[in-house]
Amino acid sequence: MTQELTNIGQIGTWLAEEPELFVVYDLNAAWVAREVLAALPGVKKAVGLETSEERKTLDTARNLSRVLLQADASRRALLLAIGGGITTDLTGFTAGIYKRGIRYANFPTTLLGQVDAAIGGKTGVNLDGYKNMLGVFRMPEYTFLCADVLRTLPRRTFLSGVSELLKTFLLADGNAYAAVLPLLTDTKQGLSVPEGPQNDGPAIGALGKWVVRAARIKEEIVARDPYEQGERAKLNLGHTFGHAIEHEALRRGQDISHGEAVALGMLLAARLSESLGVAENGLAARLEADFSAIGLPTQCPYPLEALQEAMAKDKKAQGGGKVKFVLPVTPGEVIFQELNPYDLHFDTK
Ligand SMILES: NC(=O)c1ccc[n+]([C@@H]2O[C@H](COP(=O)([O-])OP(=O)(O)OC[C@H]3O[C@@H](n4cnc5c(N)ncnc54)[C@H](O)[C@@H]3O)[C@@H](O)[C@H]2O)c1
Ligand SMILES: [Zn+2]
Repeated sequence: MTQELTNIGQIGTWLAEEPELFVVYDLNAAWVAREVLAALPGVKKAVGLETSEERKTLDTARNLSRVLLQADASRRALLLAIGGGITTDLTGFTAGIYKRGIRYANFPTTLLGQVDAAIGGKTGVNLDGYKNMLGVFRMPEYTFLCADVLRTLPRRTFLSGVSELLKTFLLADGNAYAAVLPLLTDTKQGLSVPEGPQNDGPAIGALGKWVVRAARIKEEIVARDPYEQGERAKLNLGHTFGHAIEHEALRRGQDISHGEAVALGMLLAARLSESLGVAENGLAARLEADFSAIGLPTQCPYPLEALQEAMAKDKKAQGGGKVKFVLPVTPGEVIFQELNPYDLHFDTK
């Protein structure tokens, strides 16, 4: 369940009575961990992690499990993850397998974590360079949302989360999409996109309400469809093209973040949708203007042919070579359509 905190110390209200509390934190969010530990003096052990996709592995989960074992963690223990998606995925996975499963809670410290990774119970680690190949579904006891922790995020990491935030509103809440844009588009209107601890406070505070809204939307979708039999796949909006873009970037040794790829993927999905007569006229142009004002990329650097090949290979390709596309109709509404990637013909620019 998501819990909104107006300050970090409030976490004590929820966890102070826990008999066996263990903390796993990202060293880049050590300042958050320090405030949490000050509010929770009973923590049995806190482990700081240097995080990277290369270290999001079974080895790290095993090391965490060893720490738990050496500290006599019983099946009553609760692990609290403090960090971005890497930390919450790793901690959730460890909680899912230690002694056949113990409880865990997430305190996401990235925007992407708050609206996406820390919600919904998908946990996992990478295997041989393949992302999230090993994992379990395990719901966190709590996901704590606190806007304050976003103040130290580097701009690019912050924008990666913005992309998922907009995705959530585009698929489920058109009014929220329209309402959050002014907070994101113009620093003069209050938001200083976080660059460091000196970021101005009120703007991040104003964003907090929308972060909670997005998190709850994901939470509700997951509650209705925990194992992605249907509706949960809506959350893949922008990700079919996005994964293909990430794949192509990796192949060419270019640096495109997940959020940037998803932003481009949503634009491509909107253009495709318009070309099929599914989206309202002008949707793609509108999204392009919105994304560009926020600082998200809008020009896909790769030709459609390269993306088609990557999509056809994507693990989500079903029998017959068809891929389930999430197509935007209007902000707040999407539909599914199964298409063969090689049948796509539309202007990607
Ligand atoms: N489980 C899911 O449903 C799900 C969904 C989406 C993504 N993910 C996973 O999440 C990961 C991506 O998440 P992410 O973008 O949060 O990545 P991340 O955990 O790597 O965090 C991004 C960067 O921000 C740093 N950081 C974290 N909090 C900070 C803070 N408050 N101040 C300054 N720096 C901070 C981290 O050290 C890291 O360098 C991927 O591994 C992805 O597979 C999981
Ligand atoms: Zn994503």
